[in-house]
Amino acid sequence: MSVLVTGAAGAIGSACVDAFASHGIEVLAQDLDASSLEGREGVTPISGNLQDPGVLARIGELAEQTRLTAVVVAHGIAGSSALPDCTEEFTDRVLRINWSTIPALFDAVETTLTRNQGKYIAVASQAALGGESENIVYCASKFAINGWIQAKQDLGGPISFHSICPGATNSPLLMKAQKQFAAAAGQTPEEYYTQRAKPISLGRYGEPREMGAAAYYLSQPGPKPTILPVTGGDVLL
Ligand SMILES: NC(=O)c1ccc[n+]([C@@H]2O[C@H](COP(=O)([O-])OP(=O)(O)OC[C@H]3O[C@@H](n4cnc5c(N)ncnc54)[C@H](OP(=O)(O)O)[C@@H]3O)[C@@H](O)[C@H]2O)c1
Repeated sequence: MSVLVTGAAGAIGSACVDAFASHGIEVLAQDLDASSLEGREGVTPISGNLQDPGVLARIGELAEQTRLTAVVVAHGIAGSSALPDCTEEFTDRVLRINWSTIPALFDAVETTLTRNQGKYIAVASQAALGGESENIVYCASKFAINGWIQAKQDLGGPISFHSICPGATNSPLLMKAQKQFAAAAGQTPEEYYTQRAKPISLGRYGEPREMGAAAYYLSQPGPKPTILPVTGGDVLL
């Protein structure tokens, strides 16, 4: 039995790898460069771009060989920009990486997951729950994920579909986006953080390990198909 984690070298992805590995579950750990995961017992690194059909085929083979039972889709890129700055090239890149790879990856593992009554868990975002004016293309890519997950939930069948919607979570991806939000608001990143953390009940950003715990929870037999906000109490709407 195995679990596939994409973006496994990233902040949230590596926390998901830790969560599954700590429960003794074999992990297929995919990232553009997964070499940082080499040498870990029970972890099989898979380096490559999810837009590459060869990488998807390799994942499909490994899924069969290891009896894949769950996928956590935790790759992605920042896509913050106000509407006037959203060129066609930028929009296309964000949507292709953050959204189009998700159904493509599903196609590669569907047969195995169907046989194993598996789980397909996509990491969307709080930006999939409400529009953000400086984050338009990113929001579009994440709304698309939740729409696809909900359509799959509605179809029913042996595979359970879930999405996790993290709020602001400490990571290089957030720090990159935050610099742009701060600049757009005429603030320093520190001023932006102080203001941004205020509506979060916890009074701080989330930690990647909290997203790993949510992914592990959803991979278990109990939870019904769900869209799970993990925002520390932050509600944008
Ligand atoms: N951090 C947050 O506050 C936050 C909040 C809500 C949702 N999320 C979502 O959570 C997920 C993980 O975010 P994170 O904060 O952990 O970001 P991260 O640390 O940047 O991790 C994302 C990983 O995905 C990899 N990746 C990018 N394009 C890929 C591709 N085409 N094929 C395979 N791997 C690819 C990245 O590689 P490179 O580094 O080499 O590009 C990186 O290792 C993303 O979908 C993000 O949108 C994050």
